[in-house]
Amino acid sequence: MPLATVSLPGRDPASLPASSALELRGITKYFGGYPALSDLTLSVPRGSRTGIIGRSGAGKSTLVRLLSGLETPDSGELYRNGENLLALSPAQARARQRRTGLVFQHFNLLSQRTALHNVALPLELAGVSAKKREALAHEALTQVGLGELVGRYPAQLSGGQKQRVGIARALVTGPDLLLADEATSALDPETSASILELLIRLQRERDLTLVIVTHQMEVIRSVATHVAVLDQGHLAESGETKQLLAQPRHAVTRALLGAAPQVHLAAGQVLRQVTLPALDAAVLARLAALGGSVVEAHQGRGQTACWLAVPESVSLADLWAQMLAPKRAWHDPRFHLAAAWKGCP
Ligand SMILES: Nc1ncnc2c1ncn2[C@@H]1O[C@H](COP(=O)(O)OP(=O)(O)OP(=O)(O)O)[C@@H](O)[C@H]1O
Ligand SMILES: [Mg+2]
Repeated sequence: MPLATVSLPGRDPASLPASSALELRGITKYFGGYPALSDLTLSVPRGSRTGIIGRSGAGKSTLVRLLSGLETPDSGELYRNGENLLALSPAQARARQRRTGLVFQHFNLLSQRTALHNVALPLELAGVSAKKREALAHEALTQVGLGELVGRYPAQLSGGQKQRVGIARALVTGPDLLLADEATSALDPETSASILELLIRLQRERDLTLVIVTHQMEVIRSVATHVAVLDQGHLAESGETKQLLAQPRHAVTRALLGAAPQVHLAAGQVLRQVTLPALDAAVLARLAALGGSVVEAHQGRGQTACWLAVPESVSLADLWAQMLAPKRAWHDPRFHLAAAWKGCP
């Protein structure tokens, strides 16, 4: 049954795009005075597979917890299918949560329960009869390819199978929104690929909106129709995946893609990519002495990713030895040259 849309003063829900499964307007969330999300405005198209990508600490899981109702923002507006989620009564909010499936990185299965009883748990909490919930759990497990393994305990399942149980549990209440937070990060590449294929198939078959959070660009490439890039709690950029990956505008997107910035280099200069703990005055002075300059720098937690313009004759090995030089750096695990190191002189 469609639910009444609740109006807020000064906000006309009719002005929300009808095609949005989720509309975030100026969402801010603080933890102990630190903004994990800052003024985040984002639309998630209904029926899309929207990828949320960003470095560690960018605010991805905080966003998922807000979307699933596990957290509430400090300010901003959050609409789901045009309905203001922040104006619901606790009972309405719980009902909406049952329309949202959540898939976790580490599966979060109960070890004392079989696959069937893990999947049946959300129905049990919703007061569904034992007979009905077991039938629905069986159906969901069959849909993820585990119809034969319903009686197994988590310890008797592989990582990929555990994640299939996690997906069945997320879908058993019949949600129209599925949130997956790093759902394949704990799996080997082949198993990851099979789980991503399963998510795509289920999204299509069930006409879901899928929000998939990842720090891996290959997950975005293989799954997402739309993408939002988060950077230190801010939205760096968002759009259709194909277009955004072809023309990344923000430095963090380019860094995640491993793409070089589009700059005009002086004759004899080349771009080199390095990651270092800090871009301090001493490092900058040594870089200048080598005839180089910083083209783009992006500060994350505990490290700075940089693109440098340097004379062609200055190899990454020279940079390593002369600019980033302190000998202790060789032993500092945070201090490494980026992927560009491979194959460079
Ligand atoms: N419950 C919490 N209490 C305090 N700080 C928190 C809490 N949850 C998240 N944070 C902080 O908010 C910021 C964003 O965290 P979040 O977990 O959303 O990042 P993330 O993008 O999911 O990172 P990762 O890729 O490592 O999972 C971080 O600085 C984190 O330390
Ligand atoms: Mg996270």
